This record gives sequence, structure tokens and C-alpha cells, in this order.
Amino acid sequence: MVETIRWSDGVVEILDQAMLPHEVKYIRCSVYGDVVRCIKELNIRGAPAIGIAAAMGIALASMEADVKGREGFDRKIGIAIDALLASRPTAVNIRWACERMKALLQRNADSSVEELKGLLLAEAQGILREDIEINRQIGFWGAQFIKDGSRILTHCNAGALATGGYGTATAPMRQAIAEGKRIHVYADETRPVLQGARLTTWELMEDGIPVTLICDNSAGALMKAGEIDLCIVGTDRTVRNGDVANKIGTYTVAVLASVHALPFYVAAPFSSIDFTLSSGDYIPIEERNGAEVTNVTGKCQIAPNGVKVKNMAFDVTPAKYVTAIITENGAFKPADLEKLAAWDVNFENFRIKA
Ligand code: MRU
Repeated sequence: MVETIRWSDGVVEILDQAMLPHEVKYIRCSVYGDVVRCIKELNIRGAPAIGIAAAMGIALASMEADVKGREGFDRKIGIAIDALLASRPTAVNIRWACERMKALLQRNADSSVEELKGLLLAEAQGILREDIEINRQIGFWGAQFIKDGSRILTHCNAGALATGGYGTATAPMRQAIAEGKRIHVYADETRPVLQGARLTTWELMEDGIPVTLICDNSAGALMKAGEIDLCIVGTDRTVRNGDVANKIGTYTVAVLASVHALPFYVAAPFSSIDFTLSSGDYIPIEERNGAEVTNVTGKCQIAPNGVKVKNMAFDVTPAKYVTAIITENGAFKPADLEKLAAWDVNFENFRIKA
């Protein structure tokens, strides 16, 4: 399985997703500013992956901090955290990762700067390892919704490349295959940046998973023709009432699925659930440079010079269109999500079965 991000000899190596599928090459980040740039420019993207990148960026910032005292060290880490938080606004995973790294600093109030550098690196590496394990659990809980012969539509890339490995939306697919089920994946191309065409098809083909690429505007016709059995997508931020932010176009797919009475599943690690927000209306939606829309892969201009562009990177799918949220702790009805925030929750009481 492809490695999205890794720590290697004091640098963070990021698989350059802007170059895929043409070239498999890693960008070496030796200072945290390199990681911030990679997140902003989509060299690494996908909610869990940018959360991991943020944690590794903080570990790098700690190595860069040339100070002995704890106060100066915390200040330097704080500056790095602010830059990482400002890199992309919609995925909650960056905030989640930064809070986890900050909590580690607070728990170790008496540790020396040198000790903290080791602890922060170990935490970042732990977040990467855990992410892969969490995705396997999502696969375990999600595969029950996939039957032998299922044809599955997915949007954007919520696969191994969007995570530490194994993927979230792809996890139930991988698990279903491991259980001997035959599946076929339809990947929306996902304009404007084409994560579906460039990334999802590439990683599924690398892993021998049958996949067909379709234009975003084909999904409805395929559903009407009876060629899709279910949809599985990822999420950048799912909130307490079950509203789901994901790549622009996800909402369209969800409405189409509802009209055609097809199940619409969202694979969401708990790190993508923002229990502080009560509704999707409050999720900040990133607007990106119009050049992503007027140009294809930054190379070929397809619109007139000077045309006005609105480039919303994400949309919010209301909970009523979501059949279930598949997490590492089980699959749940969106309406039950807010009950899962309680520290003593018994997940078994809320899990839904196929
Ligand atoms: O702009 P991107 O490529 O970062 O958007 C990614 C998505 O929308 C993914 O579906 C989402 O982050 C879930 S990844 C497991």
C-alpha cells in the first residue's frame, strides 16, 4: 500500500499528490513551513492525511525551535500551530491533531525541551499508525453494507492517499474484497481538482480493485439505469446533528441517491467529527483560487481570460440524506451522532446493522 506521509531521518516526506498519477515522488519537508505549503497547495490532501501532516509539522517545528526554556519553546510551537490551523479551514482533523499535540505539552508540564521533542515526534508517529488501524475498523463495520456484486459510487478521494493508509470510504470496499465479495467501484472524476480521476482510480488500480471512471454529471444517469447499488464517501467535517461536509459535489450525489432510493454512507473516523458544532451551517467552507476551475490540472486553460469564478471546495450534505455514518466504533444513524460524544457512551446501544 502506498505511503502518503512518513517521517524519515528528521524530515517529513510527503507523497506529492499534485503529480499523481504521472509521477510518484516525495517532497522532503525539513521545516514546518514546508508542511504548511504542502497542505495549502494540495500536495497532501484529504482530511485525515492533513491532520497527520499537521502533527508531523508540529514535530518538525519542535526540532527547529532553538531554545532551551520551556516558555520560548511553547511560543514557537504556538506559532507553528497557528500557521497549520490557517492552512485549510474545512477539515476538522487539523484542529484535532493540533489539540492532541497541545494536550501532550500540557500533560508534560515538567519535561525538558529535549524530552518534549521526542514526545511530540512519538505522538505524531502514533497518530499515523492509529489512523491506519482506525481505517481498518471502519472497514470492519462498513463491509456489512456491501453485498457480493455491489456496484459502489464514490466521490473525490477518501482512499489510502487521503489518510495514513487504507482509506476511510475505501476501507469497507477493501474489507468486502477480503471477505471474498466481488465489487465494482464507480469513481466520480471530481472537478475541479480531479481527485477522483487522478487519485482514486490510480490507487484502486494499483491495488487491483475494479474501478470505472465517470464524469461527475454521469452519476444520476447511472443510478437511473440501475447500475449503482450504494454510495460511500468520506468527510472533512461531520457535525453533531449528522450534517456532512465533504468535497464539492457530494451533496448532489446524496440528493441523487435519495431520489433513486439508494443508500448513501459516510465513512468518518471520530477525528473528523466536530462535536462542538450543532449544524452544518456553521462549517467553514474553503473557497479556493478560481484558476483551479478555469484550468485543468493547472496546465490547460478552458475558460476565457478574466471570467468570474466561484470555487467552493466543499459542500454540506444535510443529515436527512445520510443513511449511516461508518466510524471505527460502529455504524450509526446520523440522528444518534450527538449521543456518541458522552464519555461513558456504550456504542453497542446505537450501532446499526445491515
Ligand atoms: O480538497 P481535498 O482533496 O482535501 O478534499 C478531500 C475530500 O473531500 C475527502 O473526501 C475527505 O477529506 C475525506 S478523506 C478520508
